[in-house]
Amino acid sequence: MTRTEEIKRRRTFAIIAHPDAGKTTLTEKLLLFGGAIQSAGAVKSNKIKKSTTSDFMEIEKQRGISVSTSVMAFDYKNYKVNILDTPGHEDFAEDTYRTLSAVDSVIMVIDCVKGVEPQTRKLLEVCRMRKTPVIVFINKLDREGQNAFDLLDEIEKELKIKVRPLTWPIGIGKSFKGVYNLTEKSLNLFQGDSKTTVEDIYTLNDIQDKELDKRIGNDFAEQLRNDVDLIDGVYDTLNVQKYLDGEISPVFFGSAVNNFGIKELLDCFVEIAPSPKERDTTEGIVKPEDEKFSGFIFKIHANLDPKHRDRIAFLRICSGVFERNKYYHHVRDKKELRFSNPTAFMAQQKSVIDEAFPGDVIGLYDAGNFKIGDTLTEGKNFQFKGIPSFSPELFRYVTNLDPMKTKQLQKGLEQLTDEGVAQLFTKKVDGRKIVGTVGALQFEVIQHRLKSEYNASASFDQINLYKALWISANDKKDLEVFMQDRSSHIAYDKENKPVFLAESAWLLQMAQEKFPKIEFHLKSEF
Ligand code: G4P
Repeated sequence: MTRTEEIKRRRTFAIIAHPDAGKTTLTEKLLLFGGAIQSAGAVKSNKIKKSTTSDFMEIEKQRGISVSTSVMAFDYKNYKVNILDTPGHEDFAEDTYRTLSAVDSVIMVIDCVKGVEPQTRKLLEVCRMRKTPVIVFINKLDREGQNAFDLLDEIEKELKIKVRPLTWPIGIGKSFKGVYNLTEKSLNLFQGDSKTTVEDIYTLNDIQDKELDKRIGNDFAEQLRNDVDLIDGVYDTLNVQKYLDGEISPVFFGSAVNNFGIKELLDCFVEIAPSPKERDTTEGIVKPEDEKFSGFIFKIHANLDPKHRDRIAFLRICSGVFERNKYYHHVRDKKELRFSNPTAFMAQQKSVIDEAFPGDVIGLYDAGNFKIGDTLTEGKNFQFKGIPSFSPELFRYVTNLDPMKTKQLQKGLEQLTDEGVAQLFTKKVDGRKIVGTVGALQFEVIQHRLKSEYNASASFDQINLYKALWISANDKKDLEVFMQDRSSHIAYDKENKPVFLAESAWLLQMAQEKFPKIEFHLKSEF
């Protein structure tokens, strides 16, 4: 196969959903279809349930699961599908945002009973920002959910996207009969168990076909005919380019746990979802077809064994071909590195690979060289864009509880924040360290890991902060004046970029009004 063919057959995506909508179940069914796993229950949910937030064993267990499910690859109909896992717990939302920087499209799962939920909203905002193509899967049709038209209206209104159904449900909950494939004009009848196979699909010549009445009964047949009429009247036919531009989302209906409606989804997905896309860098666009290799690190996982400090850094390949044992340029560190054991993941199987193509994600064993967002190239000095840090939601001062272990604490904090568990800021006036996170759970994780992996003890003390905002100004002098004026509210992030520590929305507004030449950014890339 040529390099271009290898690129064209890759589909790298993430499944996003509000917890419990059915992301893990759908992932598993897709892997079953791809033959990557043989039985249901093989993919563990990486959810950390609220009730177990202080159970460290649980956190460790989840970290283990989360390494093994970071990327799940399988072959389907000549396509190579790479599913990147996103954490289920909202406290790890930033991990999810970063993972979304490494995919080319997403499938969004919505529970038909609950409709659009808070996490769905947040995740979709990120997709919209990046213009990521989205396919919607409306799940749990075997439950008494909302009317399909109402759901689509809700999705369009709440998520501010346009949708186009490609399958349509017949009945719902107890009376759920199956789905009608609007493109193929075929009927897929629901058997109420998970053994649904291709044989259950019946192709109609026409929706008026009397066979339809025979199979689902007159009432449902009439209802379906009316619905299809309405769909054709209300929704334009799917324009694939608009989907690829992130302007319209095809919608499928089904029931993941019953393995129902998944094949339609997968068949359409491999056909229309984008192959690896070009990416923006500090030196212009990099195309997957470019000869020279490049890629970036979007996720880092510490080794679960505290005796081994090495970590796995996940690299998304963006151009060229990655080869084992070849030297590559680590742009930030200006170092040449080579990797003797790059790892690919096929469902739960790990294997050392000799080469990987754009769209692939591989694991690199790392002794502390990498930070999230790092770029590897074949010699050039550009950096990939689009992997920003976001302003944390929660902030705490770090207090060292064991002065004999200052170095260990420092190293632990540096490395854990390199992994992206949290963000580290250093105050301008007194050098105090502040840790910022998206959720409270991370403080527990950090405290626990500092103790178990670095033998350091720290407490996290309350600090009243609303947001940390990156600041910039066209004229350097304006920035200096501002930083002088508000020096007790200035800190530096790990890249030494200045941030303004705003104690409240009101104080932020005051600063904005008094210093109109200063720009305040909610993310580190602007
Ligand atoms: P998540 O990863 O998005 O958090 O969701 P997950 O797949 O873990 O699914 C959440 C719950 O919803 C699971 O039940 C799962 O079995 C159920 N589920 C998934 N798809 C469907 C569906 O199509 N219909 C129905 N009725 N339920 C579905 P659970 O009780 O939390 O776990 P389990 O004990 O069943 O594994």
